[in-house]
Amino acid sequence: MRRLLLVLCFAQLLSAQSADVDVGKGNFRLYCAPCHGIHAQGGRGPDLTQTTADLAHVISEGVPGTEMGAYSSQFDDAMIARIVSYIRSTARGASGPVAGDPEHGRALFVGTANCAGCHAAGGVGPSLARVGRQRSPAYLREKLLHPSTEITPGYETLIVTLKDGSNVRGIRRGLDDFSAQLIGLDRRFYSFRRNEVASIEKDSHSLMPDQKLTEPEITDLLAYLSTLRGDAK
Ligand code: HEC
Ligand code: HEC
Repeated sequence: MRRLLLVLCFAQLLSAQSADVDVGKGNFRLYCAPCHGIHAQGGRGPDLTQTTADLAHVISEGVPGTEMGAYSSQFDDAMIARIVSYIRSTARGASGPVAGDPEHGRALFVGTANCAGCHAAGGVGPSLARVGRQRSPAYLREKLLHPSTEITPGYETLIVTLKDGSNVRGIRRGLDDFSAQLIGLDRRFYSFRRNEVASIEKDSHSLMPDQKLTEPEITDLLAYLSTLRGDAK
């Protein structure tokens, strides 16, 4: 009899746990999946199936200065615990080291592939100092194959055509009824008043050009990018 009771309690405990996971999953899909992927496998945000982060802490406090916001005002501790249960339920063992040669990837980055021309300090592209932590490998691969599929927030492209017919294409820095500001590929900051311009167009293409890379080059670049985790910070 006592054993039966124990079994019943255990079954109840299990179903309470799986109810928690389900509620956590529902919220995860709504609030987290746009960045972390529908199965927590990562996207624009990191893969969470292998994370070693202090989940409850990161979810409530966020990661300051990144796209990862703080959720403590949105969810109470119990709800955060359910989301954590869901993330834990997706856990996979740590994957092996990334294939490819990071040293050669770095050489390409600063050398022939000329990524550094835009991504070093002062360039038009975003800093990649934390990109290995911030983005999943699948996202980075897609970025190297098709830069325009998803554009980094804050780095949208604008084309301003002046009344004399000339135009400037660059990263949008400001746009309102009276003026437009952008940074061109020449790294210059441009500011135009509305009455100077003939048209302002949002361009769905990234300022990052399509890369002509071979598959081994992509693999080595990905190996290098995955080492950029901002650890010195
Ligand atoms: C707008 C995109 C975005 C949304 C929405 C988002 N995250 Fe994040 N998240 C990120 C990014 C980017 C990072 C990496 C931050 C860094 O360390 O640079 C991150 C980091 C994390 C980490 C730390 C992972 C690690 O290994 O360091 C956890 C855990 C996490 N997010 C959970 C969540 C949960 C749970 C939600 C939903 C409640 C959520 N995130 C919503 C973008 C997002
Ligand atoms: C002509 C300038 C230019 C060159 C060359 C360039 N990029 Fe970019 N890159 C950008 C710009 C601008 C963005 C931001 C807009 C966007 O996301 O498309 C960007 C975005 C990225 C992102 C996404 C960053 C994020 O946080 O989501 C990655 C990764 C990246 N570049 C890697 C590379 C690599 C690797 C190379 C070399 C093979 C390279 N880029 C060459 C301009 C450039």
